[in-house]
Amino acid sequence: MPLIPLRVLLDHAAENDYGVAALNVNNMEQIQAIMIAAQETDSPVIIQASRGARKYSNDAYLRHLILAAAELNPSIPIVMHLDHGNSAETCKSAIEQNFTSVMMDGSLDAEGKEPSTFEYNVEVTRTVVGAAHAVGVSVEGEIGALGGIEDGHGAGLSEEEAQEHLTDPAQAEEFVAQTGVDALAVAIGTSHGAYKFKKKPTGDVLKMDLIEEIHRRLPNTHLVMHGSSSVPQELQDIINQYGGALKQTYGVPVEAIQKGIANGVRKVNVDTDNRLAITGAIRKVFSESPEAFDPRKYLVPARLAMVEVCKARMIAFGQAGQAGNVPIKTCKEMVDFYI
Ligand code: G3H
Ligand code: 13P
Ligand code: ZN
Repeated sequence: MPLIPLRVLLDHAAENDYGVAALNVNNMEQIQAIMIAAQETDSPVIIQASRGARKYSNDAYLRHLILAAAELNPSIPIVMHLDHGNSAETCKSAIEQNFTSVMMDGSLDAEGKEPSTFEYNVEVTRTVVGAAHAVGVSVEGEIGALGGIEDGHGAGLSEEEAQEHLTDPAQAEEFVAQTGVDALAVAIGTSHGAYKFKKKPTGDVLKMDLIEEIHRRLPNTHLVMHGSSSVPQELQDIINQYGGALKQTYGVPVEAIQKGIANGVRKVNVDTDNRLAITGAIRKVFSESPEAFDPRKYLVPARLAMVEVCKARMIAFGQAGQAGNVPIKTCKEMVDFYI
């Protein structure tokens, strides 16, 4: 089966009221884990790579690994998506490398550090939409800015700063009208990484009502939730039990995501939960079998731990059981759709 554009999958998800996990990858084991979970749950998948992932693994490896996933799993529709493209050039290079979907994140400046202006965001996103749609590739834009504390050292906005850059629903409406994006990432109080909330989030920090308002204004736009890892307690505990030093933290509850899906969220970005699962499994082997040095000894349990997280999300978001129902269209076949 060919790789399909994001738009095709999200249109189907909207027609059938489900959400799709967009899972980040950097290496072969993560791609394999997603595909095992997809096979076991009969799910279509979005495999996404950030700029950092492209640098780490190299586009050629990523492209061939994802094509291998498609060849080995012909019943599973796969979207190959660029996560957080920082410029038109980054998006264009991804399109050249076989990505069927790109995110132009113009909510931040090109360094990805400071929130940009609305005008800059519209301009750069519109440029990417023009180039991508001409070849049938889908585009995700972002309005409002997320926080991004990875490990306490800080990268991007802090939790508090992120609360000041939530999506303005009226601006979201204007942004979609001016850019023609296929999907829109919104900022509702989540942040990237493990340290999202200092206590179990309530509506004052995780603004699900904002999603309802945006969906009311943009009923035909596919909404995207970034920073949607749930940071499960049991994964934190495994890491800490085997020598890790995570500080107590809280993520986005799966029930909140399900509420989002009932209100137009179709793409749900999850990376950290898989990172936690992999790290916990590897720490366990290192701790229990200090004599081991064959990488397979820890990569096999690491891959399996990621499979479990992916399966749980695929079932919870409703994409499970949908693989065979998604219409299959190539980017080439989508070109006419945009004319
Ligand atoms: O948006 C962030 C994703 O988790 C990717 O993270 O830039 O470290 O690859 P990364
Ligand atoms: P998490 O850090 O919550 O997994 O978010 C990932 C993400 O939004 C990737 O774009
Ligand atoms: Zn993100």
